[in-house]
Amino acid sequence: MVGFVRTLVAITLLVSVYSVAGTTRHYEFNIQLQNVTRLCHTRSMVTVNGKFPGPRIVAREGDRLLIKVTNHVSNNITIHWHGIRQLRSGWADGPAYVTQCPIQTGQSYVYNYTVIGQRGTLFWHAHISWLRASLYGPLIILPKLNVPYPFTKPYKEVPVIFGEWFNTDPEAIIAEATQTGGGPNVSDAYTFNGLPGPLYNCSAKDTLKLKVKHAKTYLLRLINAALNDELFFSIANHTLTVVEADAIYTKPFDTETLILAPGQTTNVLLKTKLKFPSANFVMSARPYVTGQGTFDNSTVAGILEYESSIPMKNLPLFKPALPPLNDTSFVTQFSNRLRSLASAQFPANVPQKIDRHLFFTVGLGTSPCEKNKTCQGPNGTRFAASINNVSFVQPSVALLQSHYSGQSEGVYSPYFPITPFHWFNYTGTPPNNTFVSNGTKLMVLPFNTSVELVLQDTSILGVESHPLHLHGFNFFVVGQGFGNYDPNKDPKNFNLVDPIERNTVGVPSGGWVAIRFLADNPGVWFMHCHLEVHTGWGLKMAWLVLDGKLPNQKLLPPPVDLPKC
Ligand code: C2O
Repeated sequence: MVGFVRTLVAITLLVSVYSVAGTTRHYEFNIQLQNVTRLCHTRSMVTVNGKFPGPRIVAREGDRLLIKVTNHVSNNITIHWHGIRQLRSGWADGPAYVTQCPIQTGQSYVYNYTVIGQRGTLFWHAHISWLRASLYGPLIILPKLNVPYPFTKPYKEVPVIFGEWFNTDPEAIIAEATQTGGGPNVSDAYTFNGLPGPLYNCSAKDTLKLKVKHAKTYLLRLINAALNDELFFSIANHTLTVVEADAIYTKPFDTETLILAPGQTTNVLLKTKLKFPSANFVMSARPYVTGQGTFDNSTVAGILEYESSIPMKNLPLFKPALPPLNDTSFVTQFSNRLRSLASAQFPANVPQKIDRHLFFTVGLGTSPCEKNKTCQGPNGTRFAASINNVSFVQPSVALLQSHYSGQSEGVYSPYFPITPFHWFNYTGTPPNNTFVSNGTKLMVLPFNTSVELVLQDTSILGVESHPLHLHGFNFFVVGQGFGNYDPNKDPKNFNLVDPIERNTVGVPSGGWVAIRFLADNPGVWFMHCHLEVHTGWGLKMAWLVLDGKLPNQKLLPPPVDLPKC
């Protein structure tokens, strides 16, 4: 089957040479169990086509993708195409109970969408429970045929996808944490393309080796598909040039080290040494941590190996120096260097006039423990998380379906709060009451509303960085800072010229970030922290963008095979 799909890809690539408009590319995703062994632990895990990580999807800008997902396991499944705008095709977006009911055992669903106005590296992942721990893979969008990259043409392109390995079933881990109200167990290793590397027990044979030639330029497509950890990444003795983030070209800049939050992707150019260096070079990643809880503090390593004409043994091995685990100042400097390319061909269309100013607090809190139970969250409570103190309650039907069919009553409220209910010193001494409220509330926007949204971290259970991901849109990161956002002072420093455009942004630990976007895509769009543990605790909400007046401003009707709840 995998071979068949590969042939199909080869054929579609050939066909695309002859067509100017996009072509249609078909993929088959069979969700099946597969035994995988890492760190001497064998697990039966949920995979796509028996592969871990999953297969890569390759398309060109303008292509249509038809991906048939068939569920052969007992878990409910959905797949999300992270960062794809899904213009008017929200039915194919994938978050469970937001845009679709899950695909049940024995059923299939064809995700059908066209890639419009995007090129670069994205990824796909399961969007239900913690199944994305093993269900993820690269989603690569090449430029239209004969359209060059706005940087040196690479000799080769290599995806490097960061993940987390668990010795026990992640579904059991999250089920237990939900039961107790405490923090879930952490992963046992980080991985590059599914391989933890030599710094773990019983793992040396599972090491990513990047074989390179000297004096060439390689394009590394870096993807952070980890569940719960932002990661620093570096290659010893090599400088990387950042050229793209979240499938948007950036002004190129050089760096030794990168920070990538879960949900973020970045393309970097790696220029190899001009001569054979008689050495090997470690590339590694380890977490950036700001929270209070336990975390996996291990390091994944792979090896950059230069090809030589004569076989060489016992070459020296250089290791990179990664920033300290809590190096917020590195993270701030790095994110300040990210700028949109903002060229004539790839402009930064930052909304200049704003229709709606919104202010959302994001952070952790608690929920009371049930009577006659002991809970393992703070002071015997349950962990919770919220946006504007609303902890999102997942409905049992899909929001988009209930909106489209006019049956939203009793499913969701259209009154998501535009600011927190009470003012408090968001990043100061925490309030005594840490309880969140619960609800399924949507923020409703008329078509083409321009939005400025300030996301403010809270210190209720300690400050923490939160990578917020918005479905259905890219947004511009116009400003960020520490402490409480000041609506009088801070907007003066906004960058409205070449801010970075992306789909996932880290809300600084103990700070705020301001983003702008144009609500030009009708549908229901999820927004959540891409740390799966926080999403599970309720750090999520959804936007409802209404249809516009013109026929091409309306959500398309649902596909006939859309799963039922
Ligand atoms: Cu990458 Cu809503 O997810």
